[in-house]
Amino acid sequence: MAEKIVIASGKGGVGKSSLTVGLCRALRDRGRRVLAVDCDLGLRSLDLLFCAGDALVFDWGDVLRGACAPERACIETDGISLLSAPLHESSDFTPQGMRDMIAKYDGGFDYILIDAPAGVVGEFALAAAMADRALVVATADGVCLRSAGRAADTLREQGVSDRRLVINRFHRAAVEHSFLFNVDDAIDRVGVQLIGVVPEDPEVMFRLPKGEGLPKKSPAKRAWERIAARLDGENVPLRLRLF
Ligand SMILES: Nc1ncnc2c1ncn2[C@@H]1O[C@H](COP(=O)(O)OP(=O)(O)OP(=O)(O)O)[C@@H](O)[C@H]1O
Ligand SMILES: [Mg+2]
Repeated sequence: MAEKIVIASGKGGVGKSSLTVGLCRALRDRGRRVLAVDCDLGLRSLDLLFCAGDALVFDWGDVLRGACAPERACIETDGISLLSAPLHESSDFTPQGMRDMIAKYDGGFDYILIDAPAGVVGEFALAAAMADRALVVATADGVCLRSAGRAADTLREQGVSDRRLVINRFHRAAVEHSFLFNVDDAIDRVGVQLIGVVPEDPEVMFRLPKGEGLPKKSPAKRAWERIAARLDGENVPLRLRLF
């Protein structure tokens, strides 16, 4: 059975989709079968980040309505399967419908990574309904951390009790100048255990939108690899002294 992980946040634009892509690639490189599910209805982005736009015909809305077979809705991009989000909302989409739909993919994958929409209302519940566990993504500023705490609480209320925090775009100099919280304070504000810290890395901004991978030694890529290893059950130290 696939492990289903929702990548969520409270505030938008904190790096959920970038983390989803990075983790999918890192898990693939570990030999895992990975399905990426875009759950950002109307604002999908994984098709562009995976450079799969032209190949896209169906989305999970078609699977949910029984309009196409589950395997037909997935497209393969560089060893990762992608299930795209519909462009429009519909009253057909319910949490139970999402659970039933994603169960059709259980046997074919080791990991299903679900890229949630920003915010904790509306479609957030559709993304949460599919997941066994969650990664809550936040940058280390007060607004983002408070909304991440809200997202973590909402996930628990919706039945996802296994939640871990990813601090994204971390920048040590910004902490030294008191522009960002340090890692300990960030964890306290969100109230869930840390699984990784991804540094600020311009390569993410420049390369991901072009569908490119990151250079081997890029700090974000290495952080994604460490998080993927932890998800995969490996005991990788957090090396918090670096932060
Ligand atoms: N570690 C990082 N270093 C530098 N830039 C980053 C990093 N992570 C994400 N970004 C940049 O931040 C911006 C927002 O990222 P992304 O689209 O992944 O966020 P999101 O949470 O999915 O947004 P939305 O809520 O709109 O779906 C993008 O320009 C992306 O390149
Ligand atoms: Mg996104």
